[in-house]
Amino acid sequence: MEDNLVPNYDFEKHWNNAYQKTPADSLGWYEEDPIPSLQLISECNLPKDALIFNAGVGAATLIELLLNKGYSNIVVNDIAASALTELKNNLTEYKNAEVKFIVDDLTNPSELLKLKNVDVWHDRAVLHFFTTEEQQKAYFDLIKKVIRLKGYVILAEFNLEGAKKCSGLDVFNYNEAMLQERLGTDFKLLKSFNYTYTQPSGGLREYVYTLFQRTV
Ligand SMILES: C[S@@+](CC[C@H](N)C(=O)[O-])C[C@H]1O[C@@H](n2cnc3c(N)ncnc32)[C@H](O)[C@@H]1O
Repeated sequence: MEDNLVPNYDFEKHWNNAYQKTPADSLGWYEEDPIPSLQLISECNLPKDALIFNAGVGAATLIELLLNKGYSNIVVNDIAASALTELKNNLTEYKNAEVKFIVDDLTNPSELLKLKNVDVWHDRAVLHFFTTEEQQKAYFDLIKKVIRLKGYVILAEFNLEGAKKCSGLDVFNYNEAMLQERLGTDFKLLKSFNYTYTQPSGGLREYVYTLFQRTV
């Protein structure tokens, strides 16, 4: 049986171990230059104080790059406290910046339920780990609860041709139509494209990037 098919598998422990065992810049999902994410965020044409929420952020370089661009109202989340500690340590020169750190489970949220009026929800390589109907429903219910009218949702997941596993866990592959179906008719697909990401090891990972806007 695969790791994550074991009932009550401890995902929090799994992800904490991943960040404790391996330096962030050697992890299979480390992206030094998150070009597609920055491109899509910039296409949203947001004011610099827009509320940008990063689901399952890990220790992503994206946050420092957004701070460099002047975004000042960033909320980051991860199930792994160790990932957020590492991210915080990487941001010491931005002490005064508005970054809020929330350790919580996107598929069983508590603190995250307090979020509201999110202008952009950004997820790279997180949703695809939620393989059960129950986990996926909880995740999309949370998006629908916290995103404001006219707010944006950026989802970047392994595409249908993409890898079937990551970090030793099974993944659930997507295309834009599947993401649209999950978000429902209140969200309009503005843009989507496939993108090949090169891992630190040189391996290739096929993603679908999507940008949606809440219209209702
Ligand atoms: C493959 S990594 C991607 C990290 C980051 N988004 C990036 O692009 O570098 C997946 C991340 O999702 C986090 N994660 C997994 N399950 C989660 C959950 N249920 N709630 C919140 N975060 C979760 C993991 O701890 C990990 O940091």
